Amino acid sequence: MSSETSYVMVTGASAGIGAEFARQYAAAGYNLVLTARRAEALEELAAQLRSRFAVDVEVIPADLLVEQDVARLVERLQQVERPVEILVNNAGFGLGKSFDAAPVERHLDQVDVLARVPLQLMHTAILTMLPRGRGRIINVASVAAFTPGGTYSAVKRFLVVASESAHLQYSGRGIHVTALCPGLTRSEFHDAMGQGEPRLPDFLWLSPQRVVAEGIAAVTAGKPICVPSLPYKLTVAAARVLPRRLVAAAIARTRDY
Ligand SMILES: NC(=O)c1ccc[n+]([C@@H]2O[C@H](COP(=O)([O-])OP(=O)(O)OC[C@H]3O[C@@H](n4cnc5c(N)ncnc54)[C@H](OP(=O)(O)O)[C@@H]3O)[C@@H](O)[C@H]2O)c1
Repeated sequence: MSSETSYVMVTGASAGIGAEFARQYAAAGYNLVLTARRAEALEELAAQLRSRFAVDVEVIPADLLVEQDVARLVERLQQVERPVEILVNNAGFGLGKSFDAAPVERHLDQVDVLARVPLQLMHTAILTMLPRGRGRIINVASVAAFTPGGTYSAVKRFLVVASESAHLQYSGRGIHVTALCPGLTRSEFHDAMGQGEPRLPDFLWLSPQRVVAEGIAAVTAGKPICVPSLPYKLTVAAARVLPRRLVAAAIARTRDY
């Protein structure tokens, strides 16, 4: 895959894991299409990456809850010239409230931003990648996908299954799809929920640098699921084999996202 004419589209690129995807792909020589709601943060990052790595960076401010904004991303993915060869569905947010405490509209917003729109973008990307016979898609899910942790876990699970299915159907045709499932990662995620970071031991906190490096390595190698770091690999393995009531009991002590 040539990085000279290839573009990587990253959603949720204004902060955290998404901004780190932009930095690592720019460092590898890829051009970028960056999107999120905060145009100023995107422009600032774009300017840094253009001057540091001499890559082309397009900025498309978009709210994934606004249909016309999503349509602009779909149009960009469909462009034949300046093709998007890698799509990173990363944008997301947590509710930080129990099921009854958040209005149903916010749960539905979570379904849209974390599941409906990534599916739509992945569908568009695959249709444009198939004739080229190559492409990569990273869907940023979570270890929460393997636990019964509210709407957040449910939509992350959706993304894992959608990624695994796409991997099965298209890996033989040059398209790699990976669900990246990080555990707790330092970013703006917890602040955005209006909560402080959960007080947990340091070894459970991942850096965005590590999460992104492992995600890029996994999609390059054609792995459908990537869980960065040993403690979280063990967590996911345990959640898959332990009786559901034990997993539920462990989760009941944590908070919903
Ligand atoms: N941090 C963790 O512990 C953790 C763990 C597992 C999985 N994850 C997942 O990792 C992904 C990235 O999260 P992060 O940790 O990097 O959090 P973050 O620092 O809060 O970044 C979230 C990004 O999503 C964008 N976003 C949120 N709502 C949006 C909307 N309606 N339209 C467009 N963009 C929107 C934000 O940009 P704007 O505000 O500018 O729109 C921001 O760029 C998410 O999918 C999250 O669920 C995070």
